[in-house]
Amino acid sequence: MISEREIAAAVKRLAQQIDRDYTDRSPIVVGVLKGSFVFLSDLIRQMQTPICCIELLRLSSYGSETTSSGTVKVLMGLSEGALANKDVILVEDIVDTGLSTTTALELLQEQEPASLTLCSLLDKPDRRRMPVEIDYLGITIPDRYIVGYGLDMDEQYRQLPAIYAVEAEG
Ligand code: PRP
Ligand code: MN
Ligand code: MG
Repeated sequence: MISEREIAAAVKRLAQQIDRDYTDRSPIVVGVLKGSFVFLSDLIRQMQTPICCIELLRLSSYGSETTSSGTVKVLMGLSEGALANKDVILVEDIVDTGLSTTTALELLQEQEPASLTLCSLLDKPDRRRMPVEIDYLGITIPDRYIVGYGLDMDEQYRQLPAIYAVEAEG
């Protein structure tokens, strides 16, 4: 559905937008595991902005299902006080229902960062259940179940370099 080349172009554009907005600032970049690890690693290598540090958070809402369970589990939290008074960029692979991102933003806000923005490679607005404002958005996609470039189906296919839509059964 999305080629390596299209992904790379989107990542580069997002890195440039962030660079433009974060001149003279050194943000903390927070990645949401597991899905964002491929995007995160490409994004930070395209950014010129001096990153203050990388923090990782692990959430899970899908488990082995292809539809969101509706409850988001925090499988790995943030180091305490890591974000206080810092400029923070939250990095997600995809905003779908918006439940994971809303949970992540709440966890981050608890630490009272100086500023907080959201960067997501993909947006699937058709399935939104919670409103989410994406400051840096890569590509808007239709309501298809997708895998690759970090996104999984029951933990498989994260390693694919491009993004593929999965055919529905039957
Ligand atoms: C996926 C994806 C996002 C989230 C988006 O994560 O990586 O984090 O779902 O869905 P939502 O907007 O409906 O909450 P998942 O829960 O599958 O965990 P994973 O990143 O470990 O695959
Ligand atoms: Mn995820
Ligand atoms: Mg998943």
